[in-house]
Amino acid sequence: MSKEIHSHRKDEHLSLALKYWKEGRNHSEFSSALRLVPNGLPEISTEEVDLSLTLFGHQFEFPFYIEAMTGGSKMGNRINLELAEIAASQKLAMAVGSQSIALKYPELAEGFRQVRQHNPQGFIFANIGAGHSLENAQKAVEMLSADALEIHINTGQELVMKDSEGDRSFYWLENINGIAENLGVPVVVKEVGFGMSQKMFKQLSQTAVAGINIGGKGGTNFAWIERERGQTTLNLDHYGFTGPESLVEARLAKNNKPLIATGAVSSSMDILAAQLFGASLVSSAGYVLSVLKDEGSQALDELFSQWKDELVKLYTLVGARQFNDLSQVEFIYNQSLRHFLEERKDKQIIL
Ligand SMILES: Cc1cc2nc3c(=O)[nH]c(=O)nc-3n(C[C@H](O)[C@H](O)[C@H](O)COP(=O)(O)O)c2cc1C
Repeated sequence: MSKEIHSHRKDEHLSLALKYWKEGRNHSEFSSALRLVPNGLPEISTEEVDLSLTLFGHQFEFPFYIEAMTGGSKMGNRINLELAEIAASQKLAMAVGSQSIALKYPELAEGFRQVRQHNPQGFIFANIGAGHSLENAQKAVEMLSADALEIHINTGQELVMKDSEGDRSFYWLENINGIAENLGVPVVVKEVGFGMSQKMFKQLSQTAVAGINIGGKGGTNFAWIERERGQTTLNLDHYGFTGPESLVEARLAKNNKPLIATGAVSSSMDILAAQLFGASLVSSAGYVLSVLKDEGSQALDELFSQWKDELVKLYTLVGARQFNDLSQVEFIYNQSLRHFLEERKDKQIIL
């Protein structure tokens, strides 16, 4: 694929993701999947709440961050710069989009490097696909002086792309493990919006990855985006597990890797709900993009301040002074999640 076609594809992803969110195709899965048990006597003050948590050897002041989207095209670099500035001012972590394009065309690396220049102290995730070599993983991390690496797995998306664009072979586990064992910074394996199953958690438990991002269904849907790009007639819109379903799967699989939740996160209640379902960190991509493009960078900055403020109130409501207290919080699954649990609870997973 030529540089121009690759850049153009990144821009199409941006504009179609925006269209997807503008048309309201997203479903807020996290907050609607549970009901909090009333706790009107929490015996706690908002001043006692501390939202920070330690993960990957780093103290995250807030449990949410800006998830991977772009870089490598003019439009993508501009968006990344705006996001990097907001991440720096809000003290939020941030992931860049896939650096494949800059590994192939090193002259495009500068656009990614600027993310670090605009956010020198921040926690930044590098990002590559699961087929890349250890050498490329090292280059991607070096490009940004990244604190961690995300390896995305996007089988559903690759298969709905044309033969000339999409991968057709998916022997990834050994490669992922090799990178995780040797890279020297934490490696997170992330889905991009189709969610994860018990089998996947068991597979990943046998690797050296430091964390798993369940990338649940309900937000940005790359099966839809690729269809809109005219890549396919194959409809995978209904394929996958939502964020809450994926986190239930993690529990059923007795997953013991730290979890990150993405997938239609668009409110402070979504963040709390994802943490109650077992995620440590929570991230958001499509919604962040839609606020940035529709309302501007100041509005996005204000949104993050609002989420922090609301999350302190929500922790107070459930009686949690800190992240570890969330495991004591009572809540009830909604009907469809109860049904899901019934269907999935006795699965025998043989690898
Ligand atoms: C425009 C756009 C581009 C994306 N590009 C990447 C990418 O390059 N690498 C990656 O790991 N994920 C990528 N993603 C996936 C997101 O990181 C995230 O997993 C997915 O969008 C689900 O989260 P959401 O519902 O909050 O959008 C992209 C998402 C969007 C919206």
